[in-house]
Amino acid sequence: MTTINEIADLKERARRRVPKMFFDYADSGAWTESTYRANEEDFRKIKLRQRVLVDMTDRSLETTMIGQKVAMPVALAPTGLTGMQHADGEMLAAQAAEEFGVPFTLSTMSICSIEDIASVTKKPFWFQLYVMRDRDFVINLIDRAKAAGCSALVLTLDLQILGQRHKDIRNGLSAPPKFTPKHIWQMATRPGWCLGMLGTQRRTFRNIVGHAKGVGDLSSLSVWTAEQFDPRLNWSDVEWIKQRWGGPLILKGILDVEDAKMAARSGADAIIVSNHGGRQLDGAPSSISVLPRIVDAVGDRIEVHMDGGIRSGQDVLKALALGAKGTYIGRPFLYGLGAMGKAGVTLALEIIRKELDTTMALCGKRRAVDIGRDVLYREE
Ligand SMILES: Cc1cc2nc3c(=O)[nH]c(=O)nc-3n(C[C@H](O)[C@H](O)[C@H](O)COP(=O)(O)O)c2cc1C
Repeated sequence: MTTINEIADLKERARRRVPKMFFDYADSGAWTESTYRANEEDFRKIKLRQRVLVDMTDRSLETTMIGQKVAMPVALAPTGLTGMQHADGEMLAAQAAEEFGVPFTLSTMSICSIEDIASVTKKPFWFQLYVMRDRDFVINLIDRAKAAGCSALVLTLDLQILGQRHKDIRNGLSAPPKFTPKHIWQMATRPGWCLGMLGTQRRTFRNIVGHAKGVGDLSSLSVWTAEQFDPRLNWSDVEWIKQRWGGPLILKGILDVEDAKMAARSGADAIIVSNHGGRQLDGAPSSISVLPRIVDAVGDRIEVHMDGGIRSGQDVLKALALGAKGTYIGRPFLYGLGAMGKAGVTLALEIIRKELDTTMALCGKRRAVDIGRDVLYREE
């Protein structure tokens, strides 16, 4: 067995463990995937300032995100179909995050339900909301998240219509998977994955089936999702959602200074600078490239988080240096989960923690909360 040193190693192991259609679902972006690639590439362009002879003892990565204590400023991003990377994937990832001391965010489009997560965790998790046309269903979701004790609502703003990922179309992606010869072959060549799936009942969108009107079985679910994302979502919806929820609200998918200013006025607690991991508007800039502008415009009025392209603790440090108070990882934890289940998610977090800690020290800082633009190298 090869040793796992970095997130890329987990990715390769996940490729061998997860059926192609689901691995590709994670490892893809919209259309040409230029934004997906830019998210990672732009991090690599940022150089760090090496400092020496600074006391590096007693380092701490602890900080807060929306006032909640975190072991390091890295939350697990909401990702759909996570229970297809590994049986009961969301439950395992939530447990790994809880034990590590970072927030787990459950997607509306998860396989395991809000109640499933609540049944296997002790601390509050975060819930990500997609707004559907069926407002009774949305209200019900908000109320279910409240009843489960969720400590933040992450409202996603950048997916009212769906970006196209060519790989998903070619693969004929669905959850649960179809049983065509191609799909059966993809699964049969991943026996460990199949065994896990046979051992769980959680194989469809459990936040939705049995909760939304007219969605009792699998065939009606695909029709429902295609029709349900609401393209009329606007700022006045943010207002009623905030009222109904009544707790900490995070707006996800802000990539523009004007939108960030509106978000700051909305009364939300934080924004996530994000392009949905390059899965929506192909051709949009990378998250890290727009982060400084957004921080300069609204950072004194609202907490700014970011996601997209983080593949190491160094990337986390760069995001913090450019003004993010918190970050999220999507694919890094999905690769860990696909590779090794819960232990893989823990390993992904440990890899990032170690890289962040070492980088911070070599940049001459002892506390994550002290990381600022001065750790970045600037050409004269
Ligand atoms: C497989 C996959 C599924 C996703 N599903 C959702 C989702 O259901 N809701 C959401 O708000 N964002 C979703 N996202 C976007 C992530 O929350 C996050 O913005 C993105 O993954 C960050 O980029 P990274 O994967 O490079 O870390 C998804 C991303 C991936 C990779």
